Amino acid sequence: MDLPFAESWKIKMIEPIRKSARIEREQWLKEAHYNVFQLKAEHVYIDLITDSGTGAMSDRQWASLMIGDESYAGATSFFKMKETINKITGFKYVLPTHQGRAAENVLFSCLVKAGDYIPGNSQFDTTKGHIESRKAFAIDCTIDEALDTQLELPFKGNVDIRKLEKILIEHNEKIPFIIITVTNNTAGGQPVSMQNLREVNKLAKKYNKPVLFDSARFAENAYFIKKREKDYADKTIKEICREMFTYADGMTMSAKKDAIVNMGGFIATNIEEWYEQAKVKGIIFEGYITYGGMNGRDMNALAVGLDENTEFENLETRIKQIEYLASRLDEFEIPYQRPAGGHAIFIDAPKVLINVPKEEFPAQTLTVELYLEAGIRGCEIGYILADRDPVTRENRFGCNDFLRLAIPRRTYTNNHMDVVAVALKNVFDRRNSITRGMSIEWEAEVMRHFTVKLKRL
Ligand code: F0G
Repeated sequence: MDLPFAESWKIKMIEPIRKSARIEREQWLKEAHYNVFQLKAEHVYIDLITDSGTGAMSDRQWASLMIGDESYAGATSFFKMKETINKITGFKYVLPTHQGRAAENVLFSCLVKAGDYIPGNSQFDTTKGHIESRKAFAIDCTIDEALDTQLELPFKGNVDIRKLEKILIEHNEKIPFIIITVTNNTAGGQPVSMQNLREVNKLAKKYNKPVLFDSARFAENAYFIKKREKDYADKTIKEICREMFTYADGMTMSAKKDAIVNMGGFIATNIEEWYEQAKVKGIIFEGYITYGGMNGRDMNALAVGLDENTEFENLETRIKQIEYLASRLDEFEIPYQRPAGGHAIFIDAPKVLINVPKEEFPAQTLTVELYLEAGIRGCEIGYILADRDPVTRENRFGCNDFLRLAIPRRTYTNNHMDVVAVALKNVFDRRNSITRGMSIEWEAEVMRHFTVKLKRL
């Protein structure tokens, strides 16, 4: 008999978590204006609000913290990190930043001007925020099939090459670069195929435009390429990553995801001019060019994390856990973006809460219901997160409306996944009795989901 699958690690340190009573959660949620970002973490039992900065570091990462070099300039920790990034990505210039959006801020300050167009697949909300706050336009050219959650495609994060070319023709002069997010978080943690990366690169060359990867989950993307794309089954994850990055001119990175650190990020590129410009902005916004908002010890942990998480076993353990949760949801026939993504399950909220109109935010309503049910915190990646159209100020309902259950790396066991699945089933079983959703009482101009105040209708 074949042995069953098990994690590629064992546990050395634990952190207690606590359950609460429904009556307590009702009070806490009211105080949080029905926005789960406003909850205290201690009032959460299983926290699936994000996989960002919430992973468990390895013993090797913790050990590396002790030998961090905290020199202001020229720290050995920076050079260790730079060397690892050079090796994995092939990019020679590396500029540290304190997290992913800081990398976006530094680089976009150099490259994005009012009236510009930045096409790609789905831009994450911070990326969109950094584009739109500069009065430029983020153009989502993801394949239409990504909108149909029940369609099983191996690479639902792909760019529609025809849509991209149309934008390149229409706005050629106004396009500073193309941005590809791997994996495509907003479309459901869906991967982009090597072939698609190659095609985007070819098109970019034709129109003389550089390509930037938003690389937060590039290792998970590489895992899917290995598992799903012809000719890659026998390649190592590191070989696949190296090839992926040959189709880009630079990257921004939130190291809080695939480098499994609690804080950190960077810009890496082969374009000297980008690096020279970014250095100046980096010093103003982040700090000197060999630490950019990070401690020496954090750069050490980042280097080790990046090396470990571009190994197959680590990624397999992680993604099999997402698949496990998906299989439990299949048992209960709960609809989610199929196939399961790399870092999260995205529940198709309008298909669950069929009686809640889109104007009352079904995914946010489902997020609230799941928290009330069992103290589990997911988050809305849907109509609230989509913000208003910058020109018309209308809500944007053209996207999917998901409840995202993001799974932190190496943090919870499959028993926790069972609790999540059953809690969701309990909500699912009473879905027809949920007829009203939420209304907005107050919202910020951009990235409103973090601070929005809501009312239960
Ligand atoms: N790009 C992508 C694809 C992301 O998912 C994120 C963050 C960022 C950039 C920004 O990085 O948080 O380090 O500033 N995503 C988190 C999430 C917050 O929950 O999906 P950051």
